[in-house]
Amino acid sequence: MQEDGETKIKVLVLLGSPRKNGNSTILAQKIAKGAESAGATVETLYINSMNIKPCQGCWTCQKKESKGCAIDDDMQTIYPKLIGADAWVIASPVHWFNMSTQTKLWLDRCFALEKYGKNPFQKRIGIAMSFGDTDPFTSGCVNAIRSFQDCFKYVGAEISGTVYGSALNAGDISRNTELLKAAEALGKKLAT
Ligand SMILES: Cc1cc2nc3c(=O)[nH]c(=O)nc-3n(C[C@H](O)[C@H](O)[C@H](O)COP(=O)(O)O)c2cc1C
Repeated sequence: MQEDGETKIKVLVLLGSPRKNGNSTILAQKIAKGAESAGATVETLYINSMNIKPCQGCWTCQKKESKGCAIDDDMQTIYPKLIGADAWVIASPVHWFNMSTQTKLWLDRCFALEKYGKNPFQKRIGIAMSFGDTDPFTSGCVNAIRSFQDCFKYVGAEISGTVYGSALNAGDISRNTELLKAAEALGKKLAT
C-alpha cells in the first residue's frame, strides 16, 4: 500500500470485448483488483460503447506542426487519459485469430499519441486475452500477442506481463483459478 501523500499509480484499463461481462473483462477486473490492492487507482473504459472511428491513414498526426489526430471522436478524450496513466491494461478476446476489432481500432489510433504528451509509451503494459480454442497457438492468441509485441517494440514500450486462457462462453474463465491468480499478481506488478 502506498503511504499518505505519495502519488498513486494510475492504471487505465481498456476493455476490448463487445461482451460486457466476458472472459477478457473478468481477467481485466482481476488485474484491476490486484492493482488496487497495491494502492493504485484504476479507471476502466469499455471501448465498444465509445465512438472510435478507424484511422484514416491521413498522416496528419505525424506532421511536425500537427496537434494530434484529425478525427473528432471519443479518442480525443481517451488520449489524455492514456498520457496520464502510468500503466495500461489491454483486455481483448481473440476474434478471428487476432485481437478484437474494437481493440485494433483503438491501437491504430495510438499512432497520434505522441502529439498529446511526452513519452507517451513509457508505460507499464499488461495484456489480458481469452480464446475459445483449447490451444493458444491454433486459437490465434499467440498471433495477437505477437502483434502487441511488435507494436509496442516499435514504439519503445515494454510489456510488463501477459495473461491469457481458454474459455468459450462468457464467464467460463472464472473456473481457471490459477489464471485469475496470475491476473491479480500482474495487477500488483503494474502498481508497484
Ligand atoms: C467473432 C468471433 C470470432 C472468434 N474467433 C476466435 C478465434 O479465432 N480463435 C478462438 O480461439 N476463439 C475465437 N472466438 C471465441 C472467443 O475468443 C472466446 O469466446 C473468448 O473467450 C471471448 O472473450 P470475451 O468473453 O472477453 O469476449 C471468437 C468469437 C467471436 C464472437
